[in-house]
Amino acid sequence: MKQALALLMILALAAPLAAANNNNDAPTATPTYYGQVQSILEQECQVCHRPNGANLGGMVAPMAFTSYQETRPWARSIARQVESGLMPPWHAAPQHHGVFENERSLTEDQKATLIAWAKGGAPMGNAADAPPAKVWERSDGWTIGEPDLVMDMGQDFFVEDDVRDQYVNFETVITEEMLPEPRWIKAVEFRPGGPVVHHIIARPFGGIAPGNDPTVHHDGFGTLVKPGTTIRWNMHYHKEPGPGTGTWDRSSVALRFYPKDYKPDHVMQSKSMGKFDFEIPPGDSNYVATTTAKFERDALLLGYTPHMHLRGKSAHYLAKYPDGTEEVLLDVPRYDFNWQTHYKYPAGGKKIPAGTEIELTMTWDNSADNPANPDPTKTVVYGGPTTAEMMFGFVSYADAEAGYNPSNTGFLSQQRFNREEFRKTIKERFGVDWDSLSEEEQGEIFRRYRRQQRQGADSDAGEGTVSGGE
Ligand code: HEC
Repeated sequence: MKQALALLMILALAAPLAAANNNNDAPTATPTYYGQVQSILEQECQVCHRPNGANLGGMVAPMAFTSYQETRPWARSIARQVESGLMPPWHAAPQHHGVFENERSLTEDQKATLIAWAKGGAPMGNAADAPPAKVWERSDGWTIGEPDLVMDMGQDFFVEDDVRDQYVNFETVITEEMLPEPRWIKAVEFRPGGPVVHHIIARPFGGIAPGNDPTVHHDGFGTLVKPGTTIRWNMHYHKEPGPGTGTWDRSSVALRFYPKDYKPDHVMQSKSMGKFDFEIPPGDSNYVATTTAKFERDALLLGYTPHMHLRGKSAHYLAKYPDGTEEVLLDVPRYDFNWQTHYKYPAGGKKIPAGTEIELTMTWDNSADNPANPDPTKTVVYGGPTTAEMMFGFVSYADAEAGYNPSNTGFLSQQRFNREEFRKTIKERFGVDWDSLSEEEQGEIFRRYRRQQRQGADSDAGEGTVSGGE
């Protein structure tokens, strides 16, 4: 019965196709590399798939597609990857099509062309027909352009043979020789010193994990860096342990500044929404956690970076506006730990009114059906290693008012954050009156308060991954 139905459907579908073919003298020719494929690869794939292509926090495409000879052996794999939606890597739901400026996606046409080319035997076509191959400007330089300041973690570090996961902290200081005066940052790019670097967090510049693009602020937005600033590096190394696998690292971060006389209107800020007190039962295929945060002033949302570990399944950011309406800001239905994507709005960001609440919902799959799950029999709680879990919804944003100093107030506050309660706690724990402290003292006390709150929780938390703005 089912088969008969399927046959009927095929016939029904085939009939109009046949008719169309009759009207069309020549059947559609198989696309060729030089005819159609090369230009799609140039537009959508070569940013990563070329010699020394984009290094997204250690994610480097293992093969280049910059010539017919290089691409031909991968034709079937290309068709598979494109058909299944795995390449190009982009994990936001289709409803967000056109919303984020760094979207990586193919049109239906481009998809069909790549698939038809592979299925048709991946023909070369005629090189003379093709426009000259795209020349990539900097094949091994910084993608943000020539940096004004490059800093590394200050020493070579050896990751031993027997290491699987290792966290190491370093501190370096930006001296006045390196940076004679405060400057506004236009762009930040991290460079892992080797393939075993799993993430770098270097406060206050944010950090990078596999799949992250470098941070480039839109004109009018930036963060300030001052001489004397201490950079706190938190390195996570990850590899298969074994004899001969030990390797050196000296990772670095590069900054590009705005011109000296330029002051951006908006200070870019980054906060993490999340929870530390979840407990994912063994075998649970859909564990859900939710948290909310509220904007106290009009704000410009600039982007989001959802962060979970190997059991992460989906991430959902919902805006609840003060007028009662709601809007899905970001839906990532099939979260992939390997791609720590920052979903970035185009210039100007997305304006939201004071009183907007953001609700973050994340889910995890701790069942055996999750192929990435290292152990479905374990109860999973918060922790640093990729085998423990995290719940972070990083939000980057700026105050909507030009020239506003965000350290005054008005940042994203967690729903349970009660000002009076907070002042009382500070008084009890530190014996000081919050309102009488200077801005710097408040910063120091707040950091101590936060450290206590986390109670030894791994420092992967906090304002990582997205370029920080504290
Ligand atoms: C943002 C960078 C990026 C872009 C853009 C990108 N890729 Fe990839 N691609 C990668 C990385 C990184 C890998 C290695 C994947 C891994 O290790 O999980 C990969 C792997 C692949 C593979 C090999 C999969 C396998 O069999 O192991 C194919 C085929 C592929 N990409 C095709 C494409 C095509 C076609 C496009 C454009 C339509 C594209 N990619 C765009 C980064 C990218």
